Amino acid sequence: MDEHGESNQKILLGITGGIAAYKSAELVRRLQNQSCTVKVVMTAAAEKFIGALTFQALTGEPVYHDMYQSSGDAMEHIELARWADKIIIAPASANFIAKLTHGLADDLLSTLCLAAEVPIYVAPAMNQAMWKNPATQNNISILQQRGIHFLGPDQGQQACGETGPGRLLDPQEIAAQLLTSQQSTQLTTGQRLAGKTVLITAGPTKEAIDPVRFISNHSSGKMAYALAQQALQAGANVKLISGPTSLTPPAKAELHAVESALQMHSAVMQNIQDTDIFIACAAVADYRPATVAANKIKKQADHLSIEMLRNPDILTEVCALKPKPLCIGFAAETENLLENAQKKLNAKNADLIIANAVGKNKEGVSLGFNAENNHAYIISKDHCIDLGSHSKNQLAHQLINHIAEVYEKKHTS
Ligand SMILES: Cc1cc2nc3c(=O)[nH]c(=O)nc-3n(C[C@H](O)[C@H](O)[C@H](O)COP(=O)(O)O)c2cc1C
Repeated sequence: MDEHGESNQKILLGITGGIAAYKSAELVRRLQNQSCTVKVVMTAAAEKFIGALTFQALTGEPVYHDMYQSSGDAMEHIELARWADKIIIAPASANFIAKLTHGLADDLLSTLCLAAEVPIYVAPAMNQAMWKNPATQNNISILQQRGIHFLGPDQGQQACGETGPGRLLDPQEIAAQLLTSQQSTQLTTGQRLAGKTVLITAGPTKEAIDPVRFISNHSSGKMAYALAQQALQAGANVKLISGPTSLTPPAKAELHAVESALQMHSAVMQNIQDTDIFIACAAVADYRPATVAANKIKKQADHLSIEMLRNPDILTEVCALKPKPLCIGFAAETENLLENAQKKLNAKNADLIIANAVGKNKEGVSLGFNAENNHAYIISKDHCIDLGSHSKNQLAHQLINHIAEVYEKKHTS
């Protein structure tokens, strides 16, 4: 990107056969808005979902699809691969991911990917079971090891009516992540955390009052699950210690499901030994009821007081370990955000604090707990970086890259 935030990149967009193919039209626009020149290659299956004419009109270029009926140059597959600065496949079908893994070259798109010497980005979109299938997951690991960058997928409600991971990442985010990765060549290295173990805490905790009641908070776990996904994509082994959420964990993360702060504390301490990077993203309850009633508390007096005890401070304990992993904490605040985050950094002796505001931004978008977006700052002893307000997936991508950079610096100095 130049100083105006613009890109001027030549992007070759490959579209494969899936329901999400219609979203590629928006991706073209998003990339053009960043001054990218876009050429489109479609598989035969993609053309069953959306007409080539749409992309021809949007790009003002012919749409490429047939290796043997080229629009002039007989070596179109090579020419296109050489023309592009970057190749993005969006949506990428499970079939295309498998073809890419095995180096098949039986149509124009797969052939030019095999001939490409530029970075290839893949934004998968498929049914959640297709995504979770070990065949797909193995293919993805192999491609990541080869340095192919995965953008998404997102999770949630799918076109088929099922819920889970496999939705195409929002086109705005695909474009943003492509452009973010241009800011630093380091960011394009797909496997920065290969061989490293990242332990992430996620979600809220539930502190029981009696068998049917508990004290908790609005944390959804979305930020932590997005971090887990991005850490996996960076090649890490990920342990996810999660309080109760409604999310599907990334298939390759080692999940430890817990309920209370005490359970989360003991799961972290049992798993911390081999951890290289600890990310304390969970909204752990500071206090728990001193006693848990054996039976449901009956309605009686007008007032009820519950005595509360301090829970262990997991981040402080991990930061005090010798040797300690790289420790990253989160500070969600409703006021004095940066000041409180700086205090937390010092009090806990953490390496980084990710500060995020809870509430609404100037445009009225909900931020923080149970929201889709976060406005985050990375705070360390020597800097405060404003990452701005983005979706949690996009922020997770930026955060994992920054964390990897800090880890690399710490271990090479
Ligand atoms: C209605 C329909 C929707 C489909 N959606 C997807 C999808 O979202 N993701 C996917 O991987 N495959 C999907 N498929 C299957 C692919 O179209 C099929 O595997 C095809 O061979 C992909 O070809 P390509 O990779 O050459 O584009 C769908 C098939 C149908 C009939």
